[in-house]
Amino acid sequence: MSVLSRMNLEYQAFAHAKSKHASDLVPDIRLLWKALTQERADSLSDYFRKPALRRAYLGYYMPLYVMKIASLLESLHLPFKNPKILDLGAGPLSGIFGAHLAFGGLAKSVAVDREIGPMRAGLEFFEGLLNKKLDIKLVQANLRGPPYFWKPDFKPDIIIAAHVLNEFGSGSRYLESKQLLISQALSLLDKNGVLVVIEPASKVASRDIMALRDRLYEEHQVKIIAPCPEVARCPLLLSRNNWCHAEFSHRRPQELLRIDQQIGFDREFLKCSYLVLSKPESEHRHQDFRIVSGLMNADGVLRRYACTSKGFLTLSQSVRDKTQILANMTRGEAVDPSTWPKNLVKISKET
Ligand SMILES: C[S@@+](CC[C@H](N)C(=O)[O-])C[C@H]1O[C@@H](n2cnc3c(N)ncnc32)[C@H](O)[C@@H]1O
Repeated sequence: MSVLSRMNLEYQAFAHAKSKHASDLVPDIRLLWKALTQERADSLSDYFRKPALRRAYLGYYMPLYVMKIASLLESLHLPFKNPKILDLGAGPLSGIFGAHLAFGGLAKSVAVDREIGPMRAGLEFFEGLLNKKLDIKLVQANLRGPPYFWKPDFKPDIIIAAHVLNEFGSGSRYLESKQLLISQALSLLDKNGVLVVIEPASKVASRDIMALRDRLYEEHQVKIIAPCPEVARCPLLLSRNNWCHAEFSHRRPQELLRIDQQIGFDREFLKCSYLVLSKPESEHRHQDFRIVSGLMNADGVLRRYACTSKGFLTLSQSVRDKTQILANMTRGEAVDPSTWPKNLVKISKET
């Protein structure tokens, strides 16, 4: 069995997809990139019905989603070993494989999607890559329907809902259906299980999930573990032009970097917005101090914003300071100011 790691997943997936057909993969990747970024993109299953685009998706795009989900899961330091996963809106199983990468293996898992094609293709692709059969059940069901049709016969440690809530619709009138899915999912979790909701880092999708977070906070039915557990109202939502999202730095293999350059896509960071939730009685501790901006540099002073239980804070540090504490952070990172040498970072309250 080949062992997949963050270092080799992308290249191995690309090589595996390439080995499936003699034709060049790059024109199909470019075609798919155009299709995915056009205003009215087709559904995932439409692309998966076309063998050339399916191969491009599995070999080039899906590994990026897998890496993104794995990066987020790793950043949470969850105490699971071989967790049981329920992947909602699974598509080609990026959530399950992200967890596989993050935890180095999984117990039995279930994937749910209204379309069976992408799930089958994703499973076959990853089993081929790992050269072994995996204990993953595929369930074709509508997540807007009763959980009776999609709940697993075990209590999952982690439920992942990646890039699916935005497909329910955008804006306040869709909040209720998203909230319903969240409460149904939470009721299925193990006592100490977590629900990880991941959405695109776009302004619209991120602000939707921020509004959902505020609603969940208000109703006190769930524990918010990340990104901002103790803030009653998201401060970034109060202004029109901000949105909270996380960035994970990402080193691409050389072969794929060349393709990125050909299609004009910069992947220095993997970006997403997200929510990590659990039942109120879970034992998970949350992190209270989170960086919510990029690095700003003006008049010799570096600045970043942080969201904390004490409100919205500004961190500043002299550009000349060699410790580079602010420069070395990433957007979305949870940090602990008590570990910084004294007096180097000034912390002030935003009004
Ligand atoms: C953009 S894909 C995300 C796939 C995968 N989770 C990922 O992150 O790469 C969204 C998936 O959600 C599924 N989906 C959307 N609405 C659904 C619903 N009401 N019930 C079940 N699946 C749904 C779609 O079929 C699609 O496969």
